[in-house]
Amino acid sequence: SSSHVTSQGNRVAFGASIGNVGNIGPFNTDITLVYKNVFSNTGSYNPGTGIFTAPVRGVYYFSFSGFNVSTRSMDLVLMKNGEHMIYATNHPAGNRHEPATNGMTLQLVVGDQVYVRLRQDTWIFDNGNNHSTFIGYLLFPL
Ligand SMILES: *[C@@H]1O[C@H](CO)[C@@H](O)[C@H](O)[C@H]1NC(C)=O
Ligand SMILES: *[C@@H]1O[C@H](CO)[C@@H](O)[C@H](O)[C@H]1NC(C)=O
Repeated sequence: SSSHVTSQGNRVAFGASIGNVGNIGPFNTDITLVYKNVFSNTGSYNPGTGIFTAPVRGVYYFSFSGFNVSTRSMDLVLMKNGEHMIYATNHPAGNRHEPATNGMTLQLVVGDQVYVRLRQDTWIFDNGNNHSTFIGYLLFPL
């Protein structure tokens, strides 16, 4: 029945950290971050590529965070199909630990892809403490 389809469609969520990899970057180009360490995933997040693909049309919430010593800036951007949505940035403020985080609701159609990129010449860190994370879930279908 259609109510069965709708209830399946309501169950979309994932959460992952980069995991115990140490420093990533700096690179001379933007790269897609791969959050390999999955906490939960109903199947629409690919931990091999870092890309979430919307399985249903709806309004989704995404949040991401990053962490490092701010001797060099960290510059993260939430992407939707190659378009920049929002940033989370640390300025190179000196030798101290600084997190940065941001989040947004996005309206998506089936097949839209959402992921986080590390911008060129910046870096990010994670270890077994899961400082650097990416989460998303469907708020409601449309
Ligand atoms: C990032 O933070 C970790 C933890 O303090 C540190 O070991 C590492 O050297 C930092 N990376 C950079 C590039 O500063
Ligand atoms: C980081 O995530 C992994 C996998 O979910 C978990 O086993 C580990 O305990 C987490 N680390 C901390 C410090 O919570």
